[in-house]
Amino acid sequence: MSTAPAIARTRKVTTATLHGLRARGERAVFLTAYDYPTAVFADRAGVDMLLVGDSAAMTVLGHRSTVTITMTEMLVFVSAVCRGASRAFVVGDLPFLSYQASDRDAVLNAGAFIAAGCDAVKCEGGARVAPRVRAMTDAGIAVMGHLGLTPQSLGQLGGYRVQGKTLAAVERLVVDALALQDAGAFALLLEALPAAAASYVRQRVDIPVYGIGAGPDVDGQLVISHDILGNFVGEIRPRFVRRYAELDTVVTNAFREYADDVRSRRFPGPEHCYPIDASEANQIAAACAPATSPIPTSA
Ligand code: KIV
Repeated sequence: MSTAPAIARTRKVTTATLHGLRARGERAVFLTAYDYPTAVFADRAGVDMLLVGDSAAMTVLGHRSTVTITMTEMLVFVSAVCRGASRAFVVGDLPFLSYQASDRDAVLNAGAFIAAGCDAVKCEGGARVAPRVRAMTDAGIAVMGHLGLTPQSLGQLGGYRVQGKTLAAVERLVVDALALQDAGAFALLLEALPAAAASYVRQRVDIPVYGIGAGPDVDGQLVISHDILGNFVGEIRPRFVRRYAELDTVVTNAFREYADDVRSRRFPGPEHCYPIDASEANQIAAACAPATSPIPTSA
């Protein structure tokens, strides 16, 4: 039997709900989604927050990194998820170069996500993006900060590496976290940090802090849906992921069975065919029968 607190999981989740969860020490459940059915299923399962991540570049579009996805592509995923999520709080992930260059870019692109139905946006970086965060929050947009392993800066970080492994590095993360909080961010996401480092940062801010690969001592957990469902196609296998399904095998086997059935003519069966009145069927069959008299020629 579940030991989770009994929460009425019907009312729309808001920033107030999320601050309430942190205040009561209850964990928020956070998952990526990129399409309508996933958003509907997550909502039915009582997931609190959905991130329409720029990870769609890798999980859905087959790119090798996240930096290639565009605002236009993100808006397709964002709109689909927002149509499917009626309770979950939806966060749209601002893609690379949609907010870094100017406050105006940040406000207009974040505004496009809000107009498409998002409850908030997320952007990567600490003190150096704080002015952008301030511009967006001044425009009335809820912003989540993202620190630690920030995939849009993979070149600077030297690849997918755990961050915050020394006290000095953790102190720098705290400076960044406070800069984002001061700029009006309503929450933070920490990626790929030792649990002790994430806990240290969490204790030094007042806003909810969520983690992906940042241990248990944060206000909620994010996972990439493809990682836990087993349908991520690629080499990356983060150690912090627990698999809850093996969709790659389920889907491949289903397609293989379908292919066998088509080739062996087991599909479609009579039950998959539209019925027709018997006399009409007979007439069609007769009309299809080969002609009995020779076809006249012009010679
Ligand atoms: O795009 C995404 O899914 C993310 C997570 C990896 C944090 O930003």
